[in-house]
Amino acid sequence: MVDLKGQYLKIKEEVDKGIMEVIETTSFIKGPAVQRFQTHLEDYLEVKHVIPCGNGTDALQVAMMALGLKPGDEVITTSFTFIATAEVIALLGLTPVLVDVDSDTYNINPAAIRKAITDKTKAIVPVHLFGQSAPMEEIMDIAKEFNLFVIEDNAQAIGADYISNDGSRKKTGTIGHMGCTSFFPSKNLGAYGDGGAIFTNDDQLAEQLRAVVNHGMKVRYYHDYVGVNSRLDSMQAAILDVKLKHLDEYCDARRKAADYYDKAFANCDKLKTPVRYKKSTHVFHQYTLVTKGVDRDALKSFLAEKGIPMMVYYPVPLHMQKAYKSNRYSEGDFPITETLSENVISLPMHTELTTEQLEYITSNVIEFLKD
Ligand SMILES: Cc1ncc(COP(=O)(O)O)c(C=O)c1O
Repeated sequence: MVDLKGQYLKIKEEVDKGIMEVIETTSFIKGPAVQRFQTHLEDYLEVKHVIPCGNGTDALQVAMMALGLKPGDEVITTSFTFIATAEVIALLGLTPVLVDVDSDTYNINPAAIRKAITDKTKAIVPVHLFGQSAPMEEIMDIAKEFNLFVIEDNAQAIGADYISNDGSRKKTGTIGHMGCTSFFPSKNLGAYGDGGAIFTNDDQLAEQLRAVVNHGMKVRYYHDYVGVNSRLDSMQAAILDVKLKHLDEYCDARRKAADYYDKAFANCDKLKTPVRYKKSTHVFHQYTLVTKGVDRDALKSFLAEKGIPMMVYYPVPLHMQKAYKSNRYSEGDFPITETLSENVISLPMHTELTTEQLEYITSNVIEFLKD
């Protein structure tokens, strides 16, 4: 699905130099490389504070810990996302309240959020799924009206712009009270191991977040909060600092591949190509189509025989996952999510796709769908 080796070879010299510098200085934890990357990412995102941490799941957990939410408090999120989003809510003893998504963008539906609000609701976690923004203006309006926190799960959309009604642009992840991201290797800005970060424009929250990721201490060995140990290591920061310089070009390469797919499948009535939300740029973390009347398993086997990977993100909606089944929800509660789970497919999407590869992938998909 990705070609990390090909991408590495193009930036090998810079990356190797960055890694060697960390080894030479032996500042493996909290070294200058982390500070440098943090500052560069703040500049790129035009956000006041970036708090690096161990991974994207920790970023979400730490963001929720910093809000001081109490067990039983409700956090609204989407039923169609990677499990990490709801996992940390449950782990903290909070109640994940799931809502359905929009059938075109696969992102959380603001009208459904509004309906799910109770007097226990404390926060909303929109996910910018597959690389484009959730409807942030509508979400921020609801949050303001009901006095709720907004934590953006930006793990899949770093580099995307949200475009407001007045035409102004902000990077996704910098609109809510906090934004969280993952630097998992296959992410648009991926490390060579685990990594994550939280973004905020709020000075007080930033101070709190920095303490929570560091055992709850602001002053060494004085623990004001129950915290965690969640750090971005220097080696990963050095690699990410190199890759950040290429992020816009990586996003362009993904968009170009998506354009090719869109064109190739335009007349294929068994496939619905991804709808581009007009208030967001799309950075195509995934290229995800909705199939109509297609045997996905047979398509997957057919493509596998030709050496083409295909994935289903995500085959089981959150409310139907074994660990999250509760009396609260049953099958049929989120019809759009359920239909998507049954019908979506994702094709290879990365920065190194060549026209030949795209032609090979699309012609084989079309060949299968002809039958
Ligand atoms: C939407 C979403 N949220 C959270 C995460 C968690 O990130 P990580 O794997 O770095 O913990 C991911 C990554 O897979 C993700 O896709």
